[in-house]
Amino acid sequence: MTQQYLVFGNPIAQSKSPQIHHMFAEQTQQDLVYAKQLASIEGFKSSLTEFFSDPLAMGCNVTAPFKEQAAEWVDELSSGAKLAGAVNTIIRQPNGKFLGDTTDGPGIVQDLLRLQAVKSGARILLLGAGGAARGALQSLLALSPELLLVANRTESKAALLTSLIPQDNFESCGFDDLPSYDKPFDLIINSTSSSLSGEVPAVADSVLANAGFIYDMSYSDKPTILLQHAAKLGVQHYSDGLGMLVGQAAESFYLWRGVRPQVEPVIEALRSEL
Ligand code: ATR
Repeated sequence: MTQQYLVFGNPIAQSKSPQIHHMFAEQTQQDLVYAKQLASIEGFKSSLTEFFSDPLAMGCNVTAPFKEQAAEWVDELSSGAKLAGAVNTIIRQPNGKFLGDTTDGPGIVQDLLRLQAVKSGARILLLGAGGAARGALQSLLALSPELLLVANRTESKAALLTSLIPQDNFESCGFDDLPSYDKPFDLIINSTSSSLSGEVPAVADSVLANAGFIYDMSYSDKPTILLQHAAKLGVQHYSDGLGMLVGQAAESFYLWRGVRPQVEPVIEALRSEL
């Protein structure tokens, strides 16, 4: 009667989620299995329905490109998922209804706190205004920053995000406007997909060089191109996003099982295999 979980995506072969959740399960002595499943764009919602027709299927994760479709499929959305317009975690609830949540925001904040990269009252610059940025907004604002500034190559998309949550400490701008912010940022987070094309976002070096901490949501076996650039500029404190990957998984695990696994040993194990 082992309970079932899985992650849907397309592609999915690269997903580390089964490995992460099996490590969590072993650590916390939870009896579960976690698989990965490739779904087609047209067939994703039927794949979800089929998976959950098994009463032992208690939850799943959803990754690209299905997070928006997952938000349409569930019965209820958490406030974070509503704001993000996306779901990465589905939970079968005791009343039989399916709740969609997003753990990407809590996952990054958990990692930032682990790294001592942020505290309340910080000045935070978020680069990028796509799905990854949108998913992090609510959790970053919950840190009560002095300022959360979203800057994007296409400025109008950043402005769209600030219009979702009107509050004084939440602003948007284009990359070119950044040097006009006099006070340095305590934390710069890169949520753009620029590293996929091997580029550093076109942000002035002076802005990056003065950052207290630079966090790149991407990760790879060596420092990301942005982090290499930051190191050359003399930035002392930085991290890639491997801990965010594990952090969001830990949040999903908690939502399903009510137990908080330790992330450190899992991050170390994954790092050694990159
Ligand atoms: P994701 O779900 O990963 O956030 P997305 O929604 O497609 O992906 O958003 C990609 C983000 O990366 C956008 O903010 C995009 O900027 P634009 O809105 O101007 O397109 C940003 N991005 C992608 N490549 C970039 C690059 N080379 N430099 C700066 N920003 C880049």
